[in-house]
Formats: sequence, structure tokens, C-alpha cells
Amino acid sequence: MTTVHGGTVATATPPLDVPAIRAQFPILERTVRGEQRLIYLDSGATSQKPLAVLDAERHFYLTSNAAVHRGAHQLAEEATEAYEGGRAVMAAFVGAQPDEVVFTRNATESLNLVAYSFVNATDKARWGSPLPEGAERFILSPGDEILITEMEHHANLVPWQEVCAKTGAVLRWIGLTADGRLDLDRLDDLVGPRTRVVSFVHQSNLLGTINPIQPLVSAARSVGALVVLDACQSVPHMPVDVAGLGVDAMAWSGHKMLGPTGIGCLWARPEVLASMPPFISGGSMIELVTMERTTFADPPKRFEAGVPMVAQAVGLAAACEFLNDLGMPAVAAHEHDITGYALGRLQEVPGLRIVGPLDNDMRGSAISFVMDGVHPHDVGQVLDSRGIAVRVGHHCAWPACRSMGVPATTRISPYIYNDRADIDALVEALDGVGSLFGVG
Ligand code: ALA
Repeated sequence: MTTVHGGTVATATPPLDVPAIRAQFPILERTVRGEQRLIYLDSGATSQKPLAVLDAERHFYLTSNAAVHRGAHQLAEEATEAYEGGRAVMAAFVGAQPDEVVFTRNATESLNLVAYSFVNATDKARWGSPLPEGAERFILSPGDEILITEMEHHANLVPWQEVCAKTGAVLRWIGLTADGRLDLDRLDDLVGPRTRVVSFVHQSNLLGTINPIQPLVSAARSVGALVVLDACQSVPHMPVDVAGLGVDAMAWSGHKMLGPTGIGCLWARPEVLASMPPFISGGSMIELVTMERTTFADPPKRFEAGVPMVAQAVGLAAACEFLNDLGMPAVAAHEHDITGYALGRLQEVPGLRIVGPLDNDMRGSAISFVMDGVHPHDVGQVLDSRGIAVRVGHHCAWPACRSMGVPATTRISPYIYNDRADIDALVEALDGVGSLFGVG
């Protein structure tokens, strides 16, 4: 029996066959910086892509390429089927119905889509312009409140700052504890009758913290606020089922879950999507157009103006099928094992401090750390010279870095194609960093 993420997964799972998985990712066979074997520990930024994803995209372009939802010819019909088929596979992957999933460019755009629903509904209401039924929930008044957390990626922070700047709403946030978890002690003070949105990250891209969803959903429900989840770092790494989460909307990216770049997703409850005014307007998202006015298509088309990313949807479906074949409980169990191993081994490195939870419960595989007397960029450069790819900097979570008292970190983010030997190689390389910089 394997129990990870505080009981999110409690199931017997066979371990992942990492060598067999690696064989599906030709990029992992290349060498870098001379003859160094590539050790890719930057999947939090973007994952590598298996042959099945590359083949699916290539097959689409070779056989069925056309613009969807338009032409009357066979290729257009096949392309539309491929695109809508991709949506159905992606939706099923998170336990949703196809029409509840909107394809966007990436998770940032998905979060902006929700944020702009508030801006656009508020603007249109001011001018008495028509709005979809139920859009009142998106109309903000000065002094309304939006609650986020201090560990948000900029993608779930800056759009809300923009909403506040345009509507007079006020941004509030839940702070962090010293070990990088949400400080929920003040939750009751932070949620009140003016709270209209509670938007938070499922798993922090900086700290690896997996946040408890239930207390935040309960608090939001008690005041009728919309609950938005940034699931960028959870959908690729653990079983996620929208029905069980209790949130109203959820955003994630394709490229972090083995899929292509250029495609992201927004899931929302059907009644929420239906009440959202359009975001990007143009072709394909309309019902009726005259020179005076336009009425809009039902979701998801209302939010997919222009020719969408068809090949990417096909590739994303192949990515979902690849992960389904592995089994998301097995993926989560594998990451839980490698995270526990990495947490232990990293703490053996002299002068290294992990920024984020040391406890492997409710924790994902993104691990940030700092080293005494050595800037994270220098750490990253030394690792790179050994063929080890990591991310350095503030990880688009600058306020979280400030809260944790660090200007920047070095971050590893292992995935299905990494194993304990990769962590051993990392630790061996880190052991040399201190002496190279005359510290430790
Ligand atoms: N959001 C991505 C990361 O955390 C790019 O690296």
C-alpha cells in the first residue's frame, strides 16, 4: 500500500519502469556540455515529450491538417474530429465532461480568462451592455475582495492585481509559515462577505507544497466566492479529479504534462463557464453577427476565437494516454519516492538549505534550495557544466521568495523519467560546489 499526499493516493501501484520510460524520450539520450549525460531535472518548467506525442502531432500534419469548425471538406472534418477528440481525452483525464474544458494557449491564459471575466463583466454592466445569464457573479464593486496566497506563481497573482486596478477591488492574501506552508490560522479573518474570489495554487512551483483544498473551498463557499485552482504543478503529477475537488474553475498547461507547448486548459463548472462573458473575440466564438452587434457561442467555443491549436490538442491527448498507461497513482507514488529520497540526500550536502517543506507529506517533487555563500545562478551553472539541468531564480514566485527570506533559489523538479541515480549525480555535483567557490 502506498500512501502519498496525505491520502490523495492510497493504492498499491507497481513501480514505474524508468529505463523503459526513458527509452520513449530520445532527447534524454543526448549529451550536453561536451560528453556529459543529460540529467533533466527541470520538468516543473516544462516536461520532455515522448515519441507518442511527437508521432501524434506529425501524423496529424501528415494526414489531416485543416482548420477546425470551418471548411466543408474531408480534411476539415477529420481535423475537427481530432481536435474535439483531444478535448474529450483531456477532459476525461481530470474527470470532466468535454464541453467543460476550454483550450487556451497556456495556464497563464486560462487564469487570465477567468480574471478578465470579472473585468469584462464589470465594464459591460457599467455601460448596460448585454451579459450572459448569471454574469452578476463576475461584476465587481470597489471594496470587493479577491483572496490569493503568498505562494502564487505570478500567473495567479498579476492578473488579479490587474483586476483590482481596473475595478477597485482589493487584493488580500494568505501568508506562509516558516516551512513554506499556508498559514491558515487567519483564514477566517481573510474571508468575509466582500470576498468574491478565492484563487490558489494546488502545488507550489517554488516550494513543492501541496495545499489543502478543503478548508479553502469551505471558507469560499461560506461567502459564495468563486474558487479557482492553479493546477499546473498537480495535474501532471498526481491523480486530479475535478468532481472531488469542489472548486469552480481549474487551470493547467499541456507542456508540463508531456504535451506540446502552446496549449493550456481551463476547466470550469458548466454554469460558471456559461455565465462568463467572452475574453478574446473574433471568428468562431460567435452565434450571430451584424454590423451593430454580436451574440456569442456557448462554451467552450465562446472562449476559443480564431483557428485553435489543433495539432497541439492531438499531441496533448497522446500525452494523456501515455500518462494513463503508466497510471497516475503510479506516477504520484514514483514522485513521492524520489522526493523523499532527494529531501534526505540534499540535506547531506554541507551548507545546503531547503526552502520549503522538509516533510514529504502533502509535498510534490519541486525542491528549492540555497547554498551558503554561493548564488543560485552559480549553483545552476556548475550543475549545467555537469549535464544537470535545473531552474534558478525567483521562479515567477517573487513574493514567495521574499516571504521565505531568499532572493532566489536553485530548484529541481523531477518527473517520471528521473530516478534515484539522477539525485545521486546531483548530490555529487553539489558536493563540489562549495569547494569550487571557497565555502563550506
Ligand atoms: N512555471 C514554470 C516554472 O515553475 C515555468 O518553472
